[in-house]
Amino acid sequence: MPETDKIEIPDRLLRRLSANDTGFLQRVYSSGLDKYRKHLGRIGFVDKDRILDAGCGFGQWTFAMAQTSTQVVGVDIDSERLSVSAQLASINDFKNVEFCRASLEDIPNCEETFDAIFCYSVVYLTDYHKVFRNFFRLLRKGGDLYICTNGPGWYLYNIIQQPNPSTDFHPRRYGIRTFWNALTHKRKGFSPSTGACIMTPTGTKRALDRSGFEVVTLGAEGTVTTGDRHTIPPAPNYNARYMGLVNVFELIARKP
Ligand SMILES: C[S@@+](CC[C@H](N)C(=O)[O-])C[C@H]1O[C@@H](n2cnc3c(N)ncnc32)[C@H](O)[C@@H]1O
Repeated sequence: MPETDKIEIPDRLLRRLSANDTGFLQRVYSSGLDKYRKHLGRIGFVDKDRILDAGCGFGQWTFAMAQTSTQVVGVDIDSERLSVSAQLASINDFKNVEFCRASLEDIPNCEETFDAIFCYSVVYLTDYHKVFRNFFRLLRKGGDLYICTNGPGWYLYNIIQQPNPSTDFHPRRYGIRTFWNALTHKRKGFSPSTGACIMTPTGTKRALDRSGFEVVTLGAEGTVTTGDRHTIPPAPNYNARYMGLVNVFELIARKP
């Protein structure tokens, strides 16, 4: 697989995308793959046989994993994002990745075929209880699951600071809708336009325990480490808390 840090993105791929997707795609590849590889090294998600990038989006994590593991499968529900990712793989000569369209609540077959599942910034858009049960089914025994998701601080930050607005994405509206979803106990149908669900470290751990996982480590985004990877320093992208509320957090859980 290519060791290059920069991913080539032809203009023709950008022309088809919405304003929000274009901004997101450009942001995630703006400083190359190195920071993603470092993050994967710190959490011990390297030298794997077969990894699932669950909710892969535009594939930046998939490609970073492909540089350090044997085989990577990227799954997402959005066919346009998958199409862009598959074209980036071909243009940039990644041969050990495949992209498939599926909902994380319902990935068919693949029972116990992955030795690791990586899921960054996705489960708050899903029925995560169902997704965790599905992840448990897909992992081999002893396999690791990495989750990065959002606490209430992230949505308060969206309401007050309004990061990355675009013509088709309104951070303040997104944050308010998400708090409304929490108040009305909404469990399904989350999206950037309808808002997400608010997760907490305690609730997420409880849901993972109920699905059969053992949570190995949990902390603010960019801070957890595993095994012999403790030498890679933390590199958080977000503050641990916003106005006293838990912000973006991450954890590693194991299938016993
Ligand atoms: C905020 S993006 C994160 C993408 C990628 N993991 C990253 O870090 O850039 C959330 C992604 O989750 C996908 N997604 C949302 N709900 C999903 C579901 N139920 N099943 C599979 N993918 C889903 C979206 O299509 C989108 O690509």
